[in-house]
Amino acid sequence: MLKITTLVENTAVRAKFRAEHGLSMLIEKDGETVLFDTGQTDALIHNAKLLGVDLSKIDKVILSHGHYDHVGGLKYLLDYTKPTIYAHPEIFRKRYSKLSDDGNLRYIGIEDREFFEKKGARFVLSEEPIEVAKGIWTSGFVKMTNDFESVDKNFVYEKDGELIKDEVEDDLSVFIEINGSLFVLFGCAHRGIINIMKQAESTFNKCILGFLGGTHLGPADEIQREKTIEALKEMDLRVMGPSHCTGLLMTSKMYCEFGDRVVFNNVGVITVVGG
Ligand SMILES: [Fe+2]
Ligand SMILES: [Fe+2]
Repeated sequence: MLKITTLVENTAVRAKFRAEHGLSMLIEKDGETVLFDTGQTDALIHNAKLLGVDLSKIDKVILSHGHYDHVGGLKYLLDYTKPTIYAHPEIFRKRYSKLSDDGNLRYIGIEDREFFEKKGARFVLSEEPIEVAKGIWTSGFVKMTNDFESVDKNFVYEKDGELIKDEVEDDLSVFIEINGSLFVLFGCAHRGIINIMKQAESTFNKCILGFLGGTHLGPADEIQREKTIEALKEMDLRVMGPSHCTGLLMTSKMYCEFGDRVVFNNVGVITVVGG
């Protein structure tokens, strides 16, 4: 049985939880526990305590990519546990968004590696898929293979004083083997949810049951949104939990298209697969 508990998300259905622009999900499977992302602030700690999650028991963390809304909670988590952290080697880029309130570049990256290591983090960085616990894999580097998904044009990173378009090559998802199929978790899916899921299918030669997580369809253009919905119709997934950077409009559109197969993946939602 696979159990996923959403600890941080943009929305919460109960007042006692804290909602924020960010994402964190706890994966529990066959006695293994892995945390995927940490949200933006200490909302992770607040919500985890309310949900009865013992943070000191978390010894493995996967970080989807180096954006503040997925890694910001890590420094707070390190007060409770010193986990092994799995991520892509490019996660520490100094990255910015061109979208801001004042017209200046907005910093959207994370602290550097040493900052976290001083607090007890141990990093395992790899472009290749890693099985972090039995049947729980990082995607590894995701290739851009179709003609309708593209990386957000507002992202840049700074290297040797130059600004370079950020293709978010560090964007990792999680592929979980369950009952001969795969369940997928996205952070922001900056490389495109269809690219990611097609890579999962071809890597494992297995079908996809469903997904939870950020799809970045909120900021995507209309063509990407429409073609993604068309591709999802063909894939005929059992569970879809568009979250975080999907936005309420695209989540609503998906609900109109796919009905009860869509999960509103708010803080406190527990999704059980293969029970
Ligand atoms: Fe995000
Ligand atoms: Fe992101």
